[in-house]
Amino acid sequence: MITDTFLRPREAFEASPFPDNFAWGAATASYQVEGAVEEGGRGSSIWDDFCRTPGRVWEGNSGTIACDHYHRWKEDVALMRELGLKAYRFSLAWPRIIPQGEGMVNEAGLDFYDSLVDELLAAGIEPWVTLYHWDLPSALYHRGGWMNSAMPGLFADYAQVVVARLSDRVRHWITLNEPQCFIGLGLDSGIHAPGIRLSRAQILRASHHALLAHGRAVEVIREHAKSSPLIGCAPVGVVALPASETESDIDAARRAMFARDSRRMIVNPWDDTCVWSNTWWGDPVIFGHYPEDELSAFGADAPAFTSEEMRTISAPIDFFGVNIYHALTVRATEDGFAQRVEPMPGTPRSSFQWAITPEALYWGPRFLHERYKLPVVITENGIANPDWVNLDGAVEDPQRIDFTRRYLRALGAAIADGVDVRGYFHWSLMDNFEWAEGYKQRFGLIHVDFESLKRTPKASYHWYQQVIASNGASL
Ligand code: NOJ
Repeated sequence: MITDTFLRPREAFEASPFPDNFAWGAATASYQVEGAVEEGGRGSSIWDDFCRTPGRVWEGNSGTIACDHYHRWKEDVALMRELGLKAYRFSLAWPRIIPQGEGMVNEAGLDFYDSLVDELLAAGIEPWVTLYHWDLPSALYHRGGWMNSAMPGLFADYAQVVVARLSDRVRHWITLNEPQCFIGLGLDSGIHAPGIRLSRAQILRASHHALLAHGRAVEVIREHAKSSPLIGCAPVGVVALPASETESDIDAARRAMFARDSRRMIVNPWDDTCVWSNTWWGDPVIFGHYPEDELSAFGADAPAFTSEEMRTISAPIDFFGVNIYHALTVRATEDGFAQRVEPMPGTPRSSFQWAITPEALYWGPRFLHERYKLPVVITENGIANPDWVNLDGAVEDPQRIDFTRRYLRALGAAIADGVDVRGYFHWSLMDNFEWAEGYKQRFGLIHVDFESLKRTPKASYHWYQQVIASNGASL
């Protein structure tokens, strides 16, 4: 058996310079941090419903209080300022702004984000706003959710409300976070809200509506933004690393990322839909068409679409945002196929059991930039670690520091090799509600005690502070 190794020479990348104006950031999402689910006129979301259903979320946890960011946002922005963040990526809760998903706009919800944006700007932090990070208004789910062909229009209306209120100060926009997950985990495996299992044809139709919603939102932002907007996406897909730097292995890794047959063979033989596909979600947005290999495999299950819809989906965007956590390694076989290289026994893993693969931030951006030819932004990257507050009050998380150093060095190497990378957002600013895993997984640079809600910056926070202050030179 060929095994991957953790400390391959290329993983010990040297530190390399980062460009000026690099967006050193951190990210969160509304349902994961805000809490206050019944305050300020917020409507219910599918995640509120899902968390109430016994057996769905670890230990029956929910985002009802989460980090209580809705009340503690000033304290949180002060911590961001202290950290030296250049950019903060957060999402808006659609049900806080339009409680029923359509119709009545809740001014109190808009006020909350308005104040947050002002506070960020006053702290010298650029707000990067995600429109949809999974907290769909329950009322829209009861009308069919992403299965409903009215969704793109409703999403465009929501985008318009937000843009009217925030776009004089917000320039950076991200439409959908990880459609692979909210369609795949929500509607295919059912381990995320709304937690149902649809047929392949239904899932593909829902994916088409999500892509159209993205395109409609891009059009709305472009047309109505008051300051020139920079718009992107934040998908997550398989990242493949070549086992060696031979052309054949590099090509095998590229195919594992972008060709259906290789992806299925290597990653997920039972994934018969589009869930972890890079191309199903990326090609329509950038090229204006679905990938031929997926379309022909889906046959009659493929969604119906018009050329006008494809033009909307491919409304030009400014950067290719992508969430990258881990990767698998691939080699070329003698007969030209791609084959997965098994992780070595005892390979280092996060507490989520995701393999630690720093080169993901070299090859992922490189392959995506090569294919889509847009500036790349790492909209999420980070590690779940079993952190706690020591008796002396400190939170030591050396694994997070080493993880991030390795990944950022790899990203620096990609930049040195010509990949246009504009920013990096660490997931997450603070420990938060990790979906079906509840509060089991801690991803933060800041520790949150979920009983007292006390924030304690971890050692990684202080380390990242140096990285930002030195523009990456301290890596
Ligand atoms: C992906 C998601 O966007 C985010 O919400 C989640 O917490 C992290 N990755 C970690 O799983």
